[in-house]
Amino acid sequence: MTLTDDIRSCTACPSLVATRTTVVVGSTPAGARLLVVGEAPGAQEDQTGVPFVGRSGQLLDRLLEEASLPRSRVAVLNTVKCRPPDNRVPTRVETAACRPWLTAQLAVLEPALTVTLGLSATTWFLGKVTLSSVRGRVVEVDGRRVLPTYHPAAALRGGPRGEPLRLLREDLALAVRMVG
Ligand code: URA
Ligand code: SF4
Repeated sequence: MTLTDDIRSCTACPSLVATRTTVVVGSTPAGARLLVVGEAPGAQEDQTGVPFVGRSGQLLDRLLEEASLPRSRVAVLNTVKCRPPDNRVPTRVETAACRPWLTAQLAVLEPALTVTLGLSATTWFLGKVTLSSVRGRVVEVDGRRVLPTYHPAAALRGGPRGEPLRLLREDLALAVRMVG
């Protein structure tokens, strides 16, 4: 059994197992140096089994393209692999249950840089922080370089004066330069 097979057959969260269509293991193209980590699959990801294919994913694709790194060369994972109903934030129990999967994926990938999208992914790596206190700067945790930024969903919601979109674009461009 490969790691991917193990994740696909995971049943550790009974309530997510009951409502999920697929387990969204993530995409890990060979040779990817940049990893982007989101929160959990949404409806379209649950249907297709592919991370970030809905509206947030389309924005992510566009911003990476603008920064001259096609999405096909970027690894994309989530902290939690099964869709929480109604897109609620994953619980601490679910996040803890799923943690070993992302930990194992990181060990295989060894990305040069990890961009965390939004508070759930950022907290996964950094512990309890506010996003505004850490976004836009690279921090080293457990020997990994992590760059926290906004979630594309926050950018799509607009936010104060369009700042989340502007900063997400800026942070992704920085990330691409760093791994280039
Ligand atoms: N939002 C996420 O955090 N992850 C996905 O895969 C899709 C939307
Ligand atoms: Fe397993 Fe993670 Fe899905 Fe929970 S969310 S059932 S831990 S794969």
